[in-house]
Amino acid sequence: MPDYKLISAQLKGFLEADPYYVPALSNASALLWESLSDISWAGFYIVRGGQLVLGPFQGKTACIHIAKGKGVCGTAWEKDEAMLVPDVEQFPGHIACDSASRSEIVIPIHKDGEVVAVLDIDSPVLDRFSEEDKKGLIAYVEMLESSLEWAQNLY
Ligand code: SME
Repeated sequence: MPDYKLISAQLKGFLEADPYYVPALSNASALLWESLSDISWAGFYIVRGGQLVLGPFQGKTACIHIAKGKGVCGTAWEKDEAMLVPDVEQFPGHIACDSASRSEIVIPIHKDGEVVAVLDIDSPVLDRFSEEDKKGLIAYVEMLESSLEWAQNLY
């Protein structure tokens, strides 16, 4: 199990250096990429123009746009709910950017009570993410929410 307290402390350092969403989310995805085992993608989708658009990430090239309610990311946005998917083949409407993906976790990110982005992590391993991962990643996202500086007119 990764030390989520340590990872969130490292993230705090990046946010203090510059809270602007481009460097902060770029390093936030790289930090997860370096810290979590058995993952194939870690990054962000950002709400823009009524849909999710690909943000900073680590991993293979990915789908650029995701509609509200579509896939795991769009569902997490629509329901405003963290989604832990142990087997993506059992999730109706899962969007397979990478056919090697077997399990996935998505955490909504808020500003002023609205979902403005999601954190998405994929794994090539079935049932990779535990409730402990979910708690740790929600704390990670809360750290982002507390100080991220978004672009003007982004959404
Ligand atoms: N699998 C996601 C799409 C994004 S990629 O995993 C990077 C989904 O179903 O929303």
